[in-house]
Amino acid sequence: MTMPSTLPLRTFAQFREAVYAFRIPRIIMSALELELFSSMGKQAWTVSALAKRLRVSQRGLDIILRNVASIGLVKATVRGYQAHAMAQRYLNKHSPDFRGDYLQLIQRQWEEWAQLTAVVKTGRPLDDDAPETPEYRQSFSWAMHQRSLESAKHVSEQLSLGRAQTLLDLGGGPGTYALHFLKRNPTLQATVMDRPAALEVAKTLAARYRLQTRMSFLPCDFINEPIVGHYDVAWYSNVLHIYSAQENLAIFRKLRRRLASGGRILIQDTFLQDPKGLVPVEANVFAVTMLLHTQTGNTYSLRDVQDWLKRAGFARTKVLRMKPGTGDWNGQILEGRISATSRKRK
Ligand SMILES: C[S@@+](CC[C@H](N)C(=O)[O-])C[C@H]1O[C@@H](n2cnc3c(N)ncnc32)[C@H](O)[C@@H]1O
Repeated sequence: MTMPSTLPLRTFAQFREAVYAFRIPRIIMSALELELFSSMGKQAWTVSALAKRLRVSQRGLDIILRNVASIGLVKATVRGYQAHAMAQRYLNKHSPDFRGDYLQLIQRQWEEWAQLTAVVKTGRPLDDDAPETPEYRQSFSWAMHQRSLESAKHVSEQLSLGRAQTLLDLGGGPGTYALHFLKRNPTLQATVMDRPAALEVAKTLAARYRLQTRMSFLPCDFINEPIVGHYDVAWYSNVLHIYSAQENLAIFRKLRRRLASGGRILIQDTFLQDPKGLVPVEANVFAVTMLLHTQTGNTYSLRDVQDWLKRAGFARTKVLRMKPGTGDWNGQILEGRISATSRKRK
């Protein structure tokens, strides 16, 4: 993620640069709200022709186009402005690879983050009173799929599942990671455990990937209900940050009883690296998203999570590192393994 180029902030000029860093994202948000890339398609446009099509002012569009060109989302050609290949592919609603649900999620965050001060005052998340709708959960699950398509492929290529035959994707959402593990490990069976609306998306994707015969879908609220089944490996990706230390510890304990002798939990998340919890900035920024949207979520240090794993009976822990730029977050996956003799199931 792009952070202010100079950290820590030491001079007023550096502070100014950091605080004004909202401007480029705001320009991108407006381009998305105007459906700029969907309207441009593949062709080159003069400002006046595109302004007519979008029904916006020529002056406004001229300035926005110069800006999106200066950051590389469109290019200035002799025939006019043309969307860059990446924007044509992912930001254009007419493209089969459009990442619309993920873009919507990002756009919603603009308004949500504007309410941060109020949330800090009350300590209550934004959506505290409104029960989640199935429509929201489905759109969120599609967004998660669109967010993790590349990292799921790269992680599945680098992470050896050894002789594992059964994998639990706990809070798997669309099951994107499970699908890629299945593609990579031909004898593996996977179970995606999540809320029913998320599992609808996972089922659609499993059919699309022609992997539905090797995948099962288990609706379960794993905070309030028991985790069922027996697994060689549990994949716990981007769930740790939704819950408190106590809740994660309880989940690890439940999971441990469901894992085979010598079984493993693999945790993918954004981890704080230092005892003071200040590095990396990205992990702290993400804690703010959890403050806005969850009752108890946060980001945690590797050391703390290793400690919870040990308390839950995962005797050995190890940090696995993906090749730079290929994993989610900074590519760290925390492995917890139960010893071959300590299996306990209820
Ligand atoms: C941020 S998404 C992560 C999805 C996927 N694991 C990934 O890494 O892309 C978190 C998922 O956990 C699920 N989840 C969170 N708490 C849950 C609970 N108590 N029971 C079932 N699912 C839960 C959510 O529905 C959502 O699909």
